[in-house]
Amino acid sequence: MRVIIKDNPIEISHEAAELIIKQINKDHGSVLGFATGASPVETYKRIIEKYNEGEVSLKHITTFNLDEYVGLSQDNVNSYYYFMQDNLFGKTDVNPEKINFLSGKAENLEEECQRYYNRIKECGGIDIQLLGIGTNGHIGFNEPGDKFKDIPFPVKLTQSTIDSNRKYFEAVGDTMPEYALTMGIGDIMRSRKIILIATGESKAKAVKELVEGEVSPSCPATILQMHADVTIFLDKAAASLLGEKK
Ligand code: F6R
Repeated sequence: MRVIIKDNPIEISHEAAELIIKQINKDHGSVLGFATGASPVETYKRIIEKYNEGEVSLKHITTFNLDEYVGLSQDNVNSYYYFMQDNLFGKTDVNPEKINFLSGKAENLEEECQRYYNRIKECGGIDIQLLGIGTNGHIGFNEPGDKFKDIPFPVKLTQSTIDSNRKYFEAVGDTMPEYALTMGIGDIMRSRKIILIATGESKAKAVKELVEGEVSPSCPATILQMHADVTIFLDKAAASLLGEKK
């Protein structure tokens, strides 16, 4: 696990974007796993900048996102599909046919999860998976529990996740869904390279557990200790508890 600590979150986004751009320029048909939420926004901005400068094209990449809320259609402003259109896809030359998403509107959620698993496999797996981390240690929407899940699955979100994200729904007068579909820990771990971004004091406890804690489904992110190629980008605040006794 490589842990990189920077003073400024902007420096983090530049380095994370650089790794992703390097991968795309090495293999134009790369398969990339993306995350939503606040953590990757600056990284996406940097990729867009580099795209506008002609330094990278996303035309041939295939994308998979980690998760989606159950019940939201793709044109709902709070769907993760909408987020990706707004923050990356719609501002670059990503081929819409190569965008893969879990559908929160699927009639049969279990079948939808199996379809997504098969699709990742058909595409040869994920070259780089980008992650954030929840204040409770979740990655994707793998919430703390008693076992690691392998393949995509429907999940009931924890109160901690609802407390962190409901502001986005309240802003438009909606109630946050209680269920989501998410890639499993196995899907994330099968990615050939993983980049995790965490900034701000609210992530410090989860980051300490991720880097120094025992590997346990009670803090799902700890599983990343077992992956051969993980880079964790932190700002000073998110790294502030590292090295301190519990
Ligand atoms: C989002 C996702 C979540 C977020 C995490 C952190 O697709 O899978 O695991 O990465 O909840 O969210 P932010 O970045 O908003 O703090």
